Amino acid sequence: MGFPQNRMRRLRRTESLRALVRETALDPGDLIYPLFLRPGSGVRNAISSMPGVFNLSVDEALREAEEAAQLGIGGLLLFGLPDAKDEQATGAWHENGIVQQGLRALKQTAAAKKLVLIADVCLCEYTSHGHCGVVVKTGDGFAVDNDPSLELLARTATSLARAGADIVAPSDMMDGRVAAIREDLDKNGLTETPILSYASKFASAFYGPFREAADSAPQFGDRRSYQMDGANLREALREIDLDLEEGADMILMKPAMPYLDVILAARERVDVPIGAYQVSGEYSMLQAAFEKGWLDRDRAILESLVGIRRAGADFIATYFAKDAARLLSR
Ligand code: PBG
Repeated sequence: MGFPQNRMRRLRRTESLRALVRETALDPGDLIYPLFLRPGSGVRNAISSMPGVFNLSVDEALREAEEAAQLGIGGLLLFGLPDAKDEQATGAWHENGIVQQGLRALKQTAAAKKLVLIADVCLCEYTSHGHCGVVVKTGDGFAVDNDPSLELLARTATSLARAGADIVAPSDMMDGRVAAIREDLDKNGLTETPILSYASKFASAFYGPFREAADSAPQFGDRRSYQMDGANLREALREIDLDLEEGADMILMKPAMPYLDVILAARERVDVPIGAYQVSGEYSMLQAAFEKGWLDRDRAILESLVGIRRAGADFIATYFAKDAARLLSR
């Protein structure tokens, strides 16, 4: 049956009708708020390329956690900026690393009962060279050496879980790291700690502002020998299969908006929970347009997040988490 019996506009006439037939829901509990922890107290340093995002000392992070919990946000994703960096990324796996300190403090708050605390597992914020693994010299330059990196990543994950992380989330893209982390967690009695693997993480220009926020830009070379080529969908699916075989409990897709087809393909292929990360550059480009008055802020924030949910993500890590939660509770 076609027009005029069929009129699609009938169900669009009022907001209550539109709400009744809406296919995709967005809830504050689906959102994960990233925080950047640094040493000190009372520190709240603005990040110039990410308006509204700050480097926070632990005391300030506790306030953010309290606010996030009140807004009904699902969880926090924690990154760290250590006092000192070295070749072995000591700050990543040390018992008194900045994220470990933050986790122990957060765990004592009432907010932590409502929030899932996810710890990013990577070395790039902690290595002097800014790469996500161990760097070795080669005949014609340098290489990020896969297998020695696994031990450090596993040590990092175990240390973060011990400090109180509810979930560990490896974002380094070394081969075999999920298995190495699972084995180390289990060996240390942390059998109940889930792994959220950044299974298909693309080498992306959209991480640019994060590298200012986390002070993690590589000092030489780039990340294309370990992060994926943005042109490859089939390879992304293989990465997902392998991470699940190695024991990942959930996967995180990243970036989100330029890779919605990858999220959709993952959703159709696997039954584990899928998260998506609306990364720093996605946030910054929207913020820049808001500052210029070129986009309607509130509508664009929610539309961008609903789009990521519609593609198949169960939850979304986003720097807009607080803004979106406020808009959703209006
Ligand atoms: C660490 C890591 C990065 C991001 C999350 N974890 C940076 C990178 O890979 O260069 C990016 C997040 C963002 O851009 O918001 N490896």
